[in-house]
Amino acid sequence: MLKAIGSKVDLSTVNPDSEEYLSLVSDLMESDVVCRMKDYTQHGSTSTFQHCVNVSYYNYLICKLFSLNARAGARAGLLHDLFLYDWHTHVVEKGERLHGFTHAATALANAKQHFLLSELECDIIEKHMFPLNIALPRYRETVVIIMVDKFCGLLETVAGIKYSIKRTGSLLRKST
Ligand SMILES: [Fe+2]
Ligand SMILES: [Fe+2]
Repeated sequence: MLKAIGSKVDLSTVNPDSEEYLSLVSDLMESDVVCRMKDYTQHGSTSTFQHCVNVSYYNYLICKLFSLNARAGARAGLLHDLFLYDWHTHVVEKGERLHGFTHAATALANAKQHFLLSELECDIIEKHMFPLNIALPRYRETVVIIMVDKFCGLLETVAGIKYSIKRTGSLLRKST
């Protein structure tokens, strides 16, 4: 079952709670390039795909709450980390230590290659790492992702730590 972290809404099927969100992003979610993000780890035990779903869904909810462009928030949220490499090993293998500064531009270039993006969606993807990306956000939807991305990253990291503690505990119990 596909859910955003901390949410009970089932996003794997069309149901009254997921219908509107899925109508905005299902074409992206079903695309090969977006599904390739399932192969890479983002934070803790969370894949880049799951992280992007988390950010996309909460972007959508918050944009909707404040009467902003929920479609752009949801779609750009799903594409905002479309860099398609494991950043943990990429740093070591490629010697590129600036992933935090460069991946937003990489994600935007990849997203543009596969999908038609609005100016707003480009701004959301390109500047989601602010202040690491020095350019100032032009839209309120971009300010939303800057906060949502960091909040989801924190929740995912905590979930990863909890999972590791639980796993270590059960391994220790088995060995005694
Ligand atoms: Fe990012
Ligand atoms: Fe992110």
